[in-house]
Amino acid sequence: MIADLHIASWRDAYRDILPADFLANGIEAELGPHWAATLSGRRRAGAVIVAMAGRHLAGFVAAWRDGVNCHVDNLHVRPGMRNAGIGRALLGFAAQRLQDQGTVTADLWVIAANQGALRFYLSLGAEVDAPTQRETFGQVVIDRRVHWPSITTLIAACAR
Ligand SMILES: CC(C)(COP(=O)(O)OP(=O)(O)OC[C@H]1O[C@@H](n2cnc3c(N)ncnc32)[C@H](O)[C@@H]1OP(=O)(O)O)[C@@H](O)C(=O)NCCC(=O)NCCS
Repeated sequence: MIADLHIASWRDAYRDILPADFLANGIEAELGPHWAATLSGRRRAGAVIVAMAGRHLAGFVAAWRDGVNCHVDNLHVRPGMRNAGIGRALLGFAAQRLQDQGTVTADLWVIAANQGALRFYLSLGAEVDAPTQRETFGQVVIDRRVHWPSITTLIAACAR
């Protein structure tokens, strides 16, 4: 279920960013096994939180504890359900959960061309680093690191 939404969200949000062939064909072989392993494998410190609309998955966030840092690995809201506060609520829940687990900072990677997500994080008080080349699920992308030196700032911004 999470993998299906993750794939649908990438196909929508990254349609002008990632290769069409990868989004149409290769993506399932990357994200399907990733989520099967993540949800069934060795327990990892952090949280996967879902938002439901009735019986349907509206969004999800995955965040992992890396020492004292909360690393937000994925945050996706179903296309058609965006800009209704779901993303902010999910990020706030995850940050609070990870703060309870002892983290004091937070960060994530965003594709540099994903201007909508960048504006979303900036509206939540993030600091954004210079673009850098990385690889994600077999794709070479230009990413920017988005970070909050204080996770308390992020939690407060998500709750406002
Ligand atoms: C980015 C994303 C997770 C945000 O979740 P969301 O539910 O759409 O956002 P919210 O409704 O919680 O937005 C909270 C605030 O950010 C703003 N915002 C959200 N998306 C925005 C966008 N694309 N451009 C500008 N502002 C945006 C909202 O206006 C809102 O501000 P306000 O409360 O002052 O009006 C969601 O749009 C999404 O899944 N996008 C596609 C996938 C993606 O890019 N994920 C992030 C990968 S790093």
